[in-house]
Amino acid sequence: LGVRHACVDVNEPATVRTVGLRELIPAADLHRRVGELAAEVARAYEGLRPVLVSVLKGATLFLADLVRAAGIDVEVDFMSISSYGSPNATSGVVRIEKDLEASIEGRHVLVIEDIVDTGLTLNYLLRVLAARRPASLRVCTLLDKDVRRIVELPIDFRGFAIPDEFVIGYGLDFDERYRNVDGIWAVDDVRKLESDPEVFVPVFFGE
Ligand code: IMP
Repeated sequence: LGVRHACVDVNEPATVRTVGLRELIPAADLHRRVGELAAEVARAYEGLRPVLVSVLKGATLFLADLVRAAGIDVEVDFMSISSYGSPNATSGVVRIEKDLEASIEGRHVLVIEDIVDTGLTLNYLLRVLAARRPASLRVCTLLDKDVRRIVELPIDFRGFAIPDEFVIGYGLDFDERYRNVDGIWAVDDVRKLESDPEVFVPVFFGE
């Protein structure tokens, strides 16, 4: 993605451990897998002109890379939602802050997610979208914290199953930071991050 993230030397895991970060999915592995998912999506939707629906803001980096690599005729549309409860422990009660611009009735809809955790947010979103009578409705998520799932959901395209850890990077934030860090990084001490959301800024971007 061309962003500066090289201040963490992955060849010195001790250094990374000291700051409480682990590289869970290196950028090269991530990009290779996004390319594979794009090929799967292209095979499934060739000629159907699907609408790729993404929820702002976490999935936008994934969406951008996915549509370029897929190389088929698609539309993209965005929704913005706010969850009640703390940002990363969603209650599943969601308010639509910004709706899709176009009707999805009769269209093939693919929801693009950054991460599915409990599944409550996506479950709500799928019910809202299904009520609008799309021709088909499927889900593509980059990351799947499947051990945390509360509601069963069909995931049609999945990048990686990951353990129950808080992750940042490649679109995923903490308090609006770290979205532009490449690769997926696991945070060992979330409390440290909660007490100082900027704690990893020098690690990724320099002092
Ligand atoms: P769910 O409703 O529990 O599935 O929550 C999904 C949303 O929680 C995602 O779209 C993310 O915005 C957020 N989220 C869940 N886990 C993480 C994480 O590890 N890092 C950053 N955001 C997360």
